[in-house]
Amino acid sequence: MSQAASRGTAAAAAAQLSKREIAAELDAARRRTLDLLAAVPDDELRRQHSPLMSPLVWDLAHCAHFEELWLVRSLGGQAAGDRRLDDLYNAFAHERSERAALELLTPEEARRYAADVHARALALLERVDFDGDPLLRDGFVYGMVVQHEHQHVETMLATLQLRDAPHPIGRERSLRWRAREHAEVLVEAGPFVMGTTASDEPWAYDNEQRAHELELPAFWIDTVPVTNAAYLEFVEAGGYAESRHWSVDGWRWREEAAVEHPEFWRREPDGWSRRRFGRWEVLPPEEPVQHVCWFEADAYARWAGKRLPTEAEWERAASWSPDGVKRRYPWGNEPPGPQYANLGARRFGPAPVGAHPAGASPCGAEQLVGDVWEWTASDFAAYPGFEAFPYREYSEVFFAAGYKVLRGGSWATHARAIRTTFRNWDLPVRRQIFAGFRCVRDA
Ligand code: AVJ
Ligand code: FE
Repeated sequence: MSQAASRGTAAAAAAQLSKREIAAELDAARRRTLDLLAAVPDDELRRQHSPLMSPLVWDLAHCAHFEELWLVRSLGGQAAGDRRLDDLYNAFAHERSERAALELLTPEEARRYAADVHARALALLERVDFDGDPLLRDGFVYGMVVQHEHQHVETMLATLQLRDAPHPIGRERSLRWRAREHAEVLVEAGPFVMGTTASDEPWAYDNEQRAHELELPAFWIDTVPVTNAAYLEFVEAGGYAESRHWSVDGWRWREEAAVEHPEFWRREPDGWSRRRFGRWEVLPPEEPVQHVCWFEADAYARWAGKRLPTEAEWERAASWSPDGVKRRYPWGNEPPGPQYANLGARRFGPAPVGAHPAGASPCGAEQLVGDVWEWTASDFAAYPGFEAFPYREYSEVFFAAGYKVLRGGSWATHARAIRTTFRNWDLPVRRQIFAGFRCVRDA
């Protein structure tokens, strides 16, 4: 590897967390789940709100079961739940749409089970040795469980967004931001290190590894994600009526789904509104568009004379710096404080574009992390040298199966579950996730 590659993400190398800090992370993730669900009545927790989503009480017990599998049983601890739970809460055993019909734990049972597992996991944490089992190296398995629960909180937020009943979202502080002209910045051609390694990024998933060097041509990238106002121009210009803007598969989807605008939008006599956690609001023009699927993002980009970035382009724009040291976050290696990025469901929605100039990457692109997941042109596939760890079902079974990669995290993503190398994926038809996009074009 070249000098640039071998320097990798060294500057980002996380100070190893102490056991006390790990316990605090586990507690915080669990508290986030319980707090989110506390406002939802029991019958609503058990209901199937959409065939795309699990009942919320399934997510809760599944998070507890995942903690039992990885932080109790795999570390030699005593099982907390009975073995029936292994089938009920195995995501591969039952389709999401069928989970409400199973004999799931009730909300009360699920909370009790979760508390029991959590106590066992914390007791075992005191006794484990981090140098030995690769599962425990630098506390990896704890990072995996913390990230898993935060990912499910985001999934539960997507479920809550699908309900039409209002969900309490708290009052937001209004943001000051400078209005943004639509702008692009140049990312110069050159070598770049894609991905990371476990030594630099102890909580990295198998799919983010190995770090490997790529040579990319120059390209222009939008400084901010595509806004509702910009997307509305596409809608009002007849973007959904003309097949020439769409890929063949995209047009077939559009016709079958009979879709004419992003999900949760509604045309009013005097403009547009959007539903957010059960409440209709005037469509905010300066917010990144969300709830568009990959096909819609791709069609917009074509209509605009542009294209979606490859995930390599996205990662280069977000993490490459002229000093050759790759960044964990676009702004550097400091943790994602509120000045840098809109994460962790503080706002229950994306921030207007221009709200986070301090979070810009060295090339000048903003809001790459937080606000909305960004669809990329790339299919979810293995990096060179990929090895499944610690289980094939996290990433490997989704490779080359028609999934598209999303990058950067959304307003609902927790800071502990995002970095410039993090890869998310979903099918190109999915709209319930908090996803938008930005465009690029060849230089
Ligand atoms: C990485 C968000 C695609 O939710 O399907 C949760 C994360 N994996 N439980 C998903 C995950 C196992 C995963 N995504
Ligand atoms: Fe899961």
